[in-house]
Parts: sequence; structure tokens; C-alpha cells
Amino acid sequence: MTTAYASAPGKIILFGEHAVVYGRPALAVPVTQVHVDVEVRDSVRSGIWIDAPDVNLHAELNTLPSDHPLASVIHNFLFLSRQFSSPAGRGDRGEGHFPDLNIKISSTIPVASGLGSGAAVTVALTRALSSHLQYPMSDDEINAFTYEIEKLHHGTPSGIDNTVVTYARPVYFIKGHPIETFKVDHPFTIVIGDTGISAPTKESVGDVRKLWEADKAKWEKVFDQVGEVVITARMCIENGKWELLGDLMNANHELLQKMTVSSPELDTLISVARKAGALGAKMSGGGRGGNMIALATPEMAETVSRALKEAGAHHTVITTISSSI
Ligand code: PMV
Repeated sequence: MTTAYASAPGKIILFGEHAVVYGRPALAVPVTQVHVDVEVRDSVRSGIWIDAPDVNLHAELNTLPSDHPLASVIHNFLFLSRQFSSPAGRGDRGEGHFPDLNIKISSTIPVASGLGSGAAVTVALTRALSSHLQYPMSDDEINAFTYEIEKLHHGTPSGIDNTVVTYARPVYFIKGHPIETFKVDHPFTIVIGDTGISAPTKESVGDVRKLWEADKAKWEKVFDQVGEVVITARMCIENGKWELLGDLMNANHELLQKMTVSSPELDTLISVARKAGALGAKMSGGGRGGNMIALATPEMAETVSRALKEAGAHHTVITTISSSI
């Protein structure tokens, strides 16, 4: 009995969230300390049995609603690979042989906190299915498939999450442009602090859209400012200019506050990180909860991490960003 395994990392957005939805660039990197792992093997029982203990799910595929995130990945994969199902997920067993499978999904990525858990589940699950059911998919195909799944659940995603998670490399991302990974010749250290508050990205993206619709000229200018911050940040990363990179994080956070997507808990952790010696700090991802990030020297990272925990961060991750991730 063969077993296929696949894994996908988490991710964080370093710069440019929200404005990226409006065509401005953003920088994001994989976070390999957290990941989703999927195992697919043949089952002796009939049906597709999903075991995802982290979300307390133990079920047969056809007992799940068709819009369940895991069900939609599996149904769409089976449809794409022309293996035995319908995209609507009605459990239509079609003409072919419906595979009998056991799928085990484990994740260390907190859900809805800006670490890309949804994209990582889709990428790892699709890769494991594609390997086990012998339907090879390139990274470009995995990325495009994951983007379609993201659209089902998040409305108008920019595509940044699926891109970073699929290629597992630092990415300079502009919606609709060819994928551009970027070089990090000088590794740097980021401390990630989790507010423990799970906040749906769809809502904060929707709220920014309302602001933009009410006064497009004003918000286009704000998005332009974010775009400039991102371009300068990329140069700083390429040239090892850490002091300036920290200032740019602070500037990006102020622009996100203007967009109303920060929260008191995020603002508290950000100011604690700065006081503890971080070179700069900002929220990361959709906001209103989820994670903040701080740029720290390798020597200061532990101190910043400890200060964040003392100030109420549910957990922290210290990660080194480099091209060889
Ligand atoms: O909350 P996250 O990490 O999935 O990031 C969302 C990033 C946004 O720019 C707010 C939305 C998007 O689709 O790019």
C-alpha cells in the first residue's frame, strides 16, 4: 500500500498587505517553522476519510458540506484530474472508480491569523493527492489551482498567499504580474507575535474596499505611499540596510492604521516590540487580529520575543529570512 506525503510552509507578508489588492507591490516570505503536513494512502474502507485532528475533524468526504474548505479542495482536484467527481462536490461518483483513501492533515499554522494556513492546506493536500493518484502537477499548476480555491473562500484575494506558499521562496508580488522571487543575500531576523485573535481577512479587505469606494482619490494616494515603502524596503533588504528597513515597517504600519485594519491588541504588541529593541514593527496580513512582525538583530530577537509574550502574545516565532529557505 503506497503512501504519499507533502508539506507546505506558512508565510508572512513583510510589506504591502491590502494595497496589494489594488495593484501595488508587496513582499512576502515563507515561514518554515510552521507547516501543514498531509499524508494520503489507500483505504480498506470505502470512501475518502479525512482525519484533521487540529480542527477536530474526522469524517468521510461526502458527509461534509460541499463548501467545506477541505471538501472543496478534494472535489476540485478530483474533477481537475478527471478522476471520478464533480466540482460542486455533490459526491457524484461519476463513471470511473472513486478512490478509497485515508487523508491525514496536521498543521502547526494557526488558523485565520495571517500565516497563510488556508493556502498551505490546499498546497500540501493537492501535492499529496497529485502524487498518490499519479496526476503530476507543476508548481505553476499547483499555484493556479490554489488561487482558484482561495477565491472560493476569500472573495478577491490578491494571490500573494498561494504564490509564497507554493514556491516557498521570498516573493516580490504584483497582482497579475509574472512571479518574481527575490534574493536575500543578507539574512535578517523577524519576530512574529500572535495576538491570538482570529480575524477573517475577507472582512478587513471588504472594509478597505468600502473606504476606497467612498473616496477613491484619497485611498489611491495612500496605496501609492504603501507601494513606495515596498519598493524602498526591497532595496533595503537587498543591501542590508536594517535601520531604514525598520523605519519602513513603522511607516507601513501607520498607513495600515489609516486603513483601519490594525487593532488595539496589534498596536500594543507593536509598541512593546519597539520598546524592547526591535528596529521596527508592523501588523502583518489582513489585520484586526492575527500576527504582528518585528525586525530585530539576531542578538535582540529573544528579548523582543520575551517582551511580546509578557505583553500577551499567544505565541511567538523567531525566523531568519534568507533566499535559501
Ligand atoms: O491575512 P493574510 O495573511 O491571508 O493576508 C491577506 C493579505 C491582504 O493583502 C490583506 C489580502 C490579499 O488578498 O492580498
